Order: sequence, then C-alpha cells, then structure tokens
Amino acid sequence: MPPSPLSPQERQSLLAAAREALQRAYARYSNFRVGAAVLTEQGEIFAGCNVENASYGLTICAERSAIFTAVQSTKAPKLAIRAVAVVNGDDVPCSPCGACRQVIFEFGENATVIFKGQHEYQEMSIADLLPENFRLS
Ligand code: THU
Repeated sequence: MPPSPLSPQERQSLLAAAREALQRAYARYSNFRVGAAVLTEQGEIFAGCNVENASYGLTICAERSAIFTAVQSTKAPKLAIRAVAVVNGDDVPCSPCGACRQVIFEFGENATVIFKGQHEYQEMSIADLLPENFRLS
C-alpha cells in the first residue's frame, strides 16, 4: 500500500512539533541538534530529540527518541506510524540514519518521511528509503 498523502496542515503541524523538540536536543559532543516528530494513524503527534552521551555510542537519534515515546504514549492498542518529520539545528540536508529507518519501518511499513533534502524539505516513503528491510515473520 502506498503512503496516503499528508495534508498541508498535517505536514506543517508535524514539522512544527519536530522544531519544538529540536530545542530540547542534548548534543554537547557533536553540536548537531536534531528534532523529530511522529504522526500516528490516529492523528496523534509525538516528538523527540537526539540525546548524546560522553560514551558516544550510547547516543540516541531524535527519530528513535520520538518513536520510543510514541510506543509508550499512544492511546491506540499499538503504534502505527503514518509519518515522521526530522529537522536539524543547522538546516542542512539530513535524512534518517539506517538504524532509524529500520525502526520507522517496524511501526509503519507505509510511513512517509519528511526531511531536508539537498535543497528543500522532501517526502519519501520508508519503503523507498529502506529497500530490503528486515522483518521477522
Ligand atoms: N542524529 C539524529 O538524531 N538523527 C539523524 O537522522 C542523524 C543523526 C544525531 C545523532 C547524533 O547525536 C548527532 O545527530 C550527530 O550524528
């Protein structure tokens, strides 16, 4: 099933939530601040930011931070992701890393991902961003 298109209002709300979360980024090692927001199939929005650590590998990306919050907080029986938006403090091109793509796919096989491309914000389906995804049947 292809992703259902987001309305301009949904897109705007999701980006606004990601930008708000960006303010909370804890990025004292890379100084690269990231915010993300998840839109659920029920219309809920949950946001997250990157959280770094002195032990660098413990860092969590904004996308997974938002998704893990959504898993715990959605009123639905289980999380179903419709879209994810990601923004960064430098306003440079930034699409979700491979680990985050796999986590987005887990909860939204048809999710739309909004991110800053080479010039402007663009939308891509998670299926296009993560070909040959992994799923336990
Ligand atoms: N980061 C994210 O939060 N999301 C991305 O899509 C790319 C990378 C974070 C991880 C780390 O805190 C910083 O950006 C630099 O890699």
